[in-house]
Amino acid sequence: METIHIACDHAGLELKETLKAALEARGFSTCDHGTNSRESCDYPQYAHALCAAVEAENGRGILICGTGIGMSIAANRHAGIRAALCTTELHARFTRLHNDANVLCLGARVTGVELALAIMHVFLDTAFEGGRHQRRIDQLNPQPAR
Ligand code: RB5
Repeated sequence: METIHIACDHAGLELKETLKAALEARGFSTCDHGTNSRESCDYPQYAHALCAAVEAENGRGILICGTGIGMSIAANRHAGIRAALCTTELHARFTRLHNDANVLCLGARVTGVELALAIMHVFLDTAFEGGRHQRRIDQLNPQPAR
């Protein structure tokens, strides 16, 4: 079964534990890149650790901070990462269908636990549509000037 990478900062710790339990209940393995403390920490460290692993494995991951914004900004600095901050199930559905997002970002201070779980399940269960969307994804990273 697929391993889902997961990481958070101090603001996302409780939600991360809840999501991990739900992932494991579904039969996924999880790879936890921290933090595992409530002590204030710097979200980019955790975003970069998770993204390096997702890029290396061509896998999928979940990042959680207070708003989800910092994690998504850091994650999208990686050329192989398409990170989507989702606050609705619709966002999760369309970012998989159209953007082939490989990292889900959630804001633990914004999105309640039940909605976060629902968003995660839609993210995991929706396949990329391909076709014209692949052509657009191929243009996401800026090309060097010729
Ligand atoms: C931490 O207080 C907070 O800034 C962080 O969790 C996140 O929301 C940053 O974008």
